[in-house]
Amino acid sequence: MARIIAGIGSSHVPAIGAALDNGKTEEPYWKRIFSGFEKSQGWMRETKPDVAIIVYNDHASAFSVEMIPTFALGCAAEFPPADEGWGPRPVPVVKGHPALASHIAQSVILDEFDLTICNKMEVDHGMTVPMNLLFGKVEKSGHWPCPVVPLAVNVVMYPPPTGHRCFMLGRAIRKAVESYPEDLKVVIFGTGGLSHQISGPRAGLINSKWDKNFLDNLSNNPQKLVKIPHIDYMREAGAEGIEMVMWLIMRGALDDKVDEVYRFYTVPASNTAVGHIILANRGRGSARKSAAKAAPKPKRSGGKLKRAAARVKTERIRG
Ligand SMILES: [Fe+2]
Repeated sequence: MARIIAGIGSSHVPAIGAALDNGKTEEPYWKRIFSGFEKSQGWMRETKPDVAIIVYNDHASAFSVEMIPTFALGCAAEFPPADEGWGPRPVPVVKGHPALASHIAQSVILDEFDLTICNKMEVDHGMTVPMNLLFGKVEKSGHWPCPVVPLAVNVVMYPPPTGHRCFMLGRAIRKAVESYPEDLKVVIFGTGGLSHQISGPRAGLINSKWDKNFLDNLSNNPQKLVKIPHIDYMREAGAEGIEMVMWLIMRGALDDKVDEVYRFYTVPASNTAVGHIILANRGRGSARKSAAKAAPKPKRSGGKLKRAAARVKTERIRG
């Protein structure tokens, strides 16, 4: 039986991909960000998932504004990196897992979630940046460490799905995975966010207090998050903060109680808050054990978050 062993939340800021592609990872501004993912890369190497389900949003790359599916599942054998205006990112083509993806499509659609099935799809920074953050830099001529089942969610044009709908879709995905006969170790990513707004009078908005509460509740009390209406995300986390509903698909696919094995938060990257969390299901194989080995348990007091909040103040003063 396949099983989901852990969920990973990660921002997918495009500038992080550009920094990696242009050799800027050692510059102090970017090193601060990349170093926050080093332990997670160790965890990933230890955990060695067989497949990753990656929940992300397309940024008018595969889907134009003429056609926007709410939930689109990638069932193809491979997903080339999209040209987002300056050529495709120099990363390998992402290999899919058509058998698992088709199984998920059947199970989830029969559970009354109407997914769009994509048998041909390019993927943009929304997916490849979190892959780099968790798997490290992979040369274009190389291979990503595991196949991926992409799930693109509309958060770019109103109305996006509700947080509750996303959470329940995560539940349905978990059921689908657990009815897949092959013994596969699966991780699921929720990407996007955290608080940010990229245009308008509030461009540059970052709300570290909101982000911290979101991460705390994601870990311990996700039912509180599923009730948050869209307008609260917009008001508190900025227009693009609505991407955070995608993390609820990841959370819905996990146990009610999980172990938070790692968390990282820093601001800003470009003009976005960067959040990252790893949540492991309990008693389900090696994820927890590997995580304990690869990453220290975070302090619940949010020391890093407090330091991040201090950095916000510092950078605002500098700005
Ligand atoms: Fe995005």
